[in-house]
Amino acid sequence: MNWTTIRKTPASGELAPNPVDAAPVSWETARAELEGLPGGGLNIAHEAVDRQVRAGRGEVIALRWLGKNGERRTFSYAELARLSNRFANGLNRLGIRRGDRVCVLAGRLPELYITALGALKVGAVFCPLFSAFGPEPVRVRLAKSQARVLVTTSLLYERKVREQRCALPDLEHVLLTDSGAEPGVHAFHALLDAESDQFAIPFTAPDDWALLHFTSGTTGSPKGALHVHEAVVAHRLTGRRVLDLHPGDVYWCTADPGWVTGVSYGIIAPLTNGATLVVDEAEFDARRWYAILEREQVKVWYTAPTAIRMLMKAGVELARGHDLSALRFAASVGEPLHPEGVVWGLETLGQPFHDTWWQTETGAIMIANTRAQDIRPGSMGRPLPGIEAAIVRRRPEGGVDLLEPGAEGELALRVGWPSLFRGYLDDEERYRHCFTDGWYLSGDLATRDADGYYWFLGRADDVIKTAGHLIGPFEIESVLLEHPAVAEAGMIGKPDAFAGQIIKAFVALKPGYAASDALRKELIGFSRIRLGPAVAPRELEFVADLPKTRSGKIMRRLLRARELGLPVGDLSALENSAE
Ligand code: WT7
Repeated sequence: MNWTTIRKTPASGELAPNPVDAAPVSWETARAELEGLPGGGLNIAHEAVDRQVRAGRGEVIALRWLGKNGERRTFSYAELARLSNRFANGLNRLGIRRGDRVCVLAGRLPELYITALGALKVGAVFCPLFSAFGPEPVRVRLAKSQARVLVTTSLLYERKVREQRCALPDLEHVLLTDSGAEPGVHAFHALLDAESDQFAIPFTAPDDWALLHFTSGTTGSPKGALHVHEAVVAHRLTGRRVLDLHPGDVYWCTADPGWVTGVSYGIIAPLTNGATLVVDEAEFDARRWYAILEREQVKVWYTAPTAIRMLMKAGVELARGHDLSALRFAASVGEPLHPEGVVWGLETLGQPFHDTWWQTETGAIMIANTRAQDIRPGSMGRPLPGIEAAIVRRRPEGGVDLLEPGAEGELALRVGWPSLFRGYLDDEERYRHCFTDGWYLSGDLATRDADGYYWFLGRADDVIKTAGHLIGPFEIESVLLEHPAVAEAGMIGKPDAFAGQIIKAFVALKPGYAASDALRKELIGFSRIRLGPAVAPRELEFVADLPKTRSGKIMRRLLRARELGLPVGDLSALENSAE
């Protein structure tokens, strides 16, 4: 099918480019729009809540929380400021200092937002953990982050943390959102109640660590990407420029705050722009989602291709039964957004989905279809003002060659924007490996057309994107290898109509074990318990042995080629750019 450009002409009313928002901007100007702290300091939580209160927006609703059983709670900016002040005082009382890591393992609960803001206020580093992770990924991340505080629920604590606590010597304080104190744990709310709601944010420098997000590569354990307070310059500006967020706008970001999108665009960008955040505790449900869009009068919506595909599957009739006329801007991120999805948005919701591209490491949106720009369905859009992108090929001896429009290569960004990550925790070498000649290398394969639009082709490495979640094969393989029957394991992403990819495992058994349906179920069950259902393989195939390089590394690309029935040669072209 021929997907034509969706033009933003003045005739199309709301879609018309806004000359103010389309004007070029420098990072210096964007920085100057922030309030900052006395003496040249900068603090994300100050810009997100305290500043809004000082500017007279204290009574605006900051957070509208929709509980999964129909409860509804709202928090004004002033309330969020007071609650995060209480939590900051509580953290101080527990001896938490600048740079200490404060982790959260929780679903979309108000306490998560209070924790994030309170931790930032004391200068601690906020680190969210995806609540659907099983005990093993949780342990690995708590250990690696050296978290001193964990905020979680009694259920998640019981299931995923309690037994492992002896292996986590740095974890001094566990705060439960829903229960009273017992030995070894505190009650989150008792701590809040005992504290003053006044708190003066101490000096935090623009390049002090603020956020820690775990992400995955092909090899090794998860990488902890570190972001600094200065990242807020990019969060706020892209929230305004790309998502078109204005004070008082009702905004819904469906991403879970256990991942980077749910923090950068689920907390920081909307609050620093004075918007009202809708947070739904429940999991995806098409009927519920349309009801939320309609009832909450959502104006700006940031969601993901997996969700869009599921809405498309639920049918246009369901959408037509709702008045979605409040919706002014819709955007998508995290996986390829097919042209069908963009056009479906326009036809069914009245707004096209604007695809945006970024990564945990970039901290904020880098490439996008913006409100002020024509959409090319299927393209990720163009680099934002202030961002220089290129398609490059790595030279074997180091450095890169910049490629012409139309050529396929690796997507690279010229370093120098405020939300670029500042390191992988305790892994300087991996961090350095991401940069060459002043370029950050993304690990994504893409192409650029003659008009500067970027088109996603795939990953240069072996990471898997399932339902928008980035999963490293190594973490899953390691767990399967703990099972007594498993000699070798290799993981790939297998194309799936809804999740984009599902995780498929290939397993070679140890002598004495025979492949059977029962053993397949046992291995899947074993990995689900340890890894959590969202991360465990959905399919598992027994093989006599796994293809390996001469040095013994599993060649997942060959597994993928075999699975897809592709000639191996097609994939070897990509091999050069792999990690
Ligand atoms: C990877 C980054 C996006 C921030 C949250 C996830 C893939 C991201 C797109 C897009 C195709 C995309 C890339 C990227 N990705 N946006 N618009 N089209 N692919 O951050 O977990 O670090 O994942 O997501 O492969 O490298 P992340």
